[in-house]
Amino acid sequence: MPDSLHSVLRRQLKRCFGSLDAVPAALQPLVAMVDETYQQADADRRMLERSLDLSSQELLDANAQLRQAITGLRLAHQDMEARVVERTSALEAAQERLRQTTKMEAVGQLAGGVAHDFNNLLTVIGGCTDLLLASADVRDENRGDLNEIRRAALRATALTQQLLAFSRRQVLQPETIDLTQAVLGLQKMLRRVIREDIALVVDASDAAWVCVDPNQFEQVVLNLVLNARDALPEGGAIRLSVSHEQPPADAASQPGGAGDEYVCVRVADNGVGMTPDVRDRVFEPFFTTKERGKGTGLGLASVYGIVRQSNGSIAVDSVPGGGSTFTIFFPASQPEPGARPPERTDEASGGRRETVLLVEDENAVRRVVRAMLERHGYQVMEAGSAFDACDVFEEHADHIQLLVTDVVMPGMNGPALAQRLVAAKPELPVLFISGYTDLDPNALGLGHRNVGFLSKPITAERLAAKIREIFALS
Ligand SMILES: Nc1ncnc2c1ncn2[C@@H]1O[C@H](COP(=O)(O)OP(=O)(O)OP(=O)(O)O)[C@@H](O)[C@H]1O
Ligand SMILES: [Mg+2]
Repeated sequence: MPDSLHSVLRRQLKRCFGSLDAVPAALQPLVAMVDETYQQADADRRMLERSLDLSSQELLDANAQLRQAITGLRLAHQDMEARVVERTSALEAAQERLRQTTKMEAVGQLAGGVAHDFNNLLTVIGGCTDLLLASADVRDENRGDLNEIRRAALRATALTQQLLAFSRRQVLQPETIDLTQAVLGLQKMLRRVIREDIALVVDASDAAWVCVDPNQFEQVVLNLVLNARDALPEGGAIRLSVSHEQPPADAASQPGGAGDEYVCVRVADNGVGMTPDVRDRVFEPFFTTKERGKGTGLGLASVYGIVRQSNGSIAVDSVPGGGSTFTIFFPASQPEPGARPPERTDEASGGRRETVLLVEDENAVRRVVRAMLERHGYQVMEAGSAFDACDVFEEHADHIQLLVTDVVMPGMNGPALAQRLVAAKPELPVLFISGYTDLDPNALGLGHRNVGFLSKPITAERLAAKIREIFALS
């Protein structure tokens, strides 16, 4: 009941009866009821006021919480946007790396195919020239021209070899070696090839075991140091180091292999450096900024191929005027003491008239290799295909002491032929000759150690030396 109504009622009662106590008894319960109703209404009002106070506080609290949540959301949104930008650029970088790798793979396949065909041609050119030079029938005035042809063939062989290295199809002979010792052993030769105004600082002390082809590793270091020398026309310093490190995520190719220990070989110079455009293309075959006739652009392409074929990765860091750093990571290996293969012997050439079964589908190559074998004293039986070879073998199995076969041939390939003949004559030594090969001798299941590989182009000397090596293992 509102205050005013209650007071008006009491005032009227006072006016009528003089005082409230004078109100007749019959009306007293009514007065009491009015008072009670008033008190009740007053209590309700107070309670309502209290609860209103309370809910407005809750409203304030809820509002503050809402504001806090909105700020949190805004921060989360900003964080999300930053992460999207970061992820997008990481994705773009990964896509660019993939594009580069795919391009290198495609160029590598093309280069490998070209090198394979060239190796056959070079075997014929070099082989015939060698045979002519060794023959007494050639007139002296023609020998100069023959030597020119021979030199050109050798130069072409070196180029083809670099192409093969780039396409990762050259035959590697990996060994577990200590790269620190390998680098220390190279110092002297490296100092000879750089100029006197360039300092070579070598930082290699701890043993760093890695499974690589030692000769190819030398090629890698030599190429990098020669490039560094060329980038220092006014002199400067080349730093060559070997250490144990982790590869960065953006290495041009990620190392394969088990374990996460890596050996890092770094060649750094303080020379002219590279623009980003040049840096992005350095590993492409035939990419060079050197003037015509000065560089082939195959140096780093072959470095890239050798490193990749050895399960390694390579990264380049360079700024114009700020020098360049090439960093190679190889998966670390455990040392294998005494695992070196037998050294080549340089004893005088010449077979003991052992009989060789020569299998090669290219007629010109077969003719040249046959002539080389005969010149070194071997008896030769030949076949133009693996199927013909099986027929020859069936008839002369007792006499044949060595199988020399091409790897890639139509119909049945060299390894399949070797497996078939070795099944019939278990200790038959085998020499594979090939323009390139991805073959792993251990994977052939030939079951014996006297298996060899010789990459084309073949020279009479390399062929004879390899055969001697194989017979020495028998
Ligand atoms: N250390 C370096 N500093 C600056 N530029 C370099 C360096 N190494 C390589 N380059 C650049 O990369 C290019 C390609 O190098 P690569 O070794 O493949 O070929 P090249 O040295 O030009 O020729 P080649 O090695 O076949 O004689 C070089 O022409 C040069 O522009
Ligand atoms: Mg070079």
